[in-house]
Amino acid sequence: MKEKTEVSGVPSRMAEGIAMQRFAETSKNKENRICSDPYAIHFIRPEIIEFGKNNPEEAKKLVEQMEQLLPGLSSSIIARVRYFDDYLKTCLKNGIKQLVILGAGYDTRAHRIEELKNKIEIYEVDHPSTQKFKMNVIEKLFGNDGSVKYVPIDFETQKIDEELPKYGYRSDLKTLFIMEGLSMYIPKSAVENTLSFIKTNSKKGSSIILDFYPESLTNGTNTEQIAINIREYLIKQGEPLKFGIEEKDVEQFLKSSGFNNITIVNSNKYKNLYFEGKNRDKSVCNLLYFVHADIE
Ligand SMILES: C[S@@+](CC[C@H](N)C(=O)[O-])C[C@H]1O[C@@H](n2cnc3c(N)ncnc32)[C@H](O)[C@@H]1O
Repeated sequence: MKEKTEVSGVPSRMAEGIAMQRFAETSKNKENRICSDPYAIHFIRPEIIEFGKNNPEEAKKLVEQMEQLLPGLSSSIIARVRYFDDYLKTCLKNGIKQLVILGAGYDTRAHRIEELKNKIEIYEVDHPSTQKFKMNVIEKLFGNDGSVKYVPIDFETQKIDEELPKYGYRSDLKTLFIMEGLSMYIPKSAVENTLSFIKTNSKKGSSIILDFYPESLTNGTNTEQIAINIREYLIKQGEPLKFGIEEKDVEQFLKSSGFNNITIVNSNKYKNLYFEGKNRDKSVCNLLYFVHADIE
């Protein structure tokens, strides 16, 4: 029987968890923040926000326990948000005309990145259960402004080539595809199918940015404590790991899927880029990688 990615009808807990990371980072002094998202708070269950407000010491302990369980992972996630923001801004300068955010969860870039607002077409693709919750929150915050086209897709059962074009996606425009915190939760066939769609249906000069875990983490052959903890934590959340790829194989994987100009960003690189001053001593998780590539 297929393992389910999400409990049917329930929004992704991991999408909420990532929003919590962005909220926590945004609560820091401006000079110490690596990324900022003023809207993240709206996607977190109110009882969690209330608990943090009323029990700051207990909340701090819970954060420390998470850091012990998954050392460096929250810093890697914060670096991911910042790196993907920076990459999007570079792509905007380079003239992309469409943005497709795959597994968008509670991504708020459409509303918080000034350079993006009302300038290009934005499509957000996500599992219907998470997307429905998100659309309600966004409508409360911004009204029905039509700045984003929402495309419900369950990658376990549906294919992007059959859905995205129905919503107006144009294959003749230079496009950036963001796949942040998604590849690890969907089967390899869904990752391959999505890459193949991008290769066949996007204009020369289009790009993709995604993150990934090594296959040895996702298939259980990495028996380091942190790898075991990540795997078990995600099973408990009901969102088990499904896809991984070793760093040494990524370039070939993307090349054979039709991509070029491939840049792999490991944890040393993103730590050096963003962790300065008060953040200098923070550890990051060397199991989380980013990669971007172009269609030429
Ligand atoms: C860890 S969250 C990341 C969300 C967002 N990209 C971010 O970085 O904040 C994973 C996202 O993948 C989506 N997802 C997981 N499995 C999926 C599937 N089978 N089909 C569509 N979306 C899926 C979830 O709905 C969720 O939004």
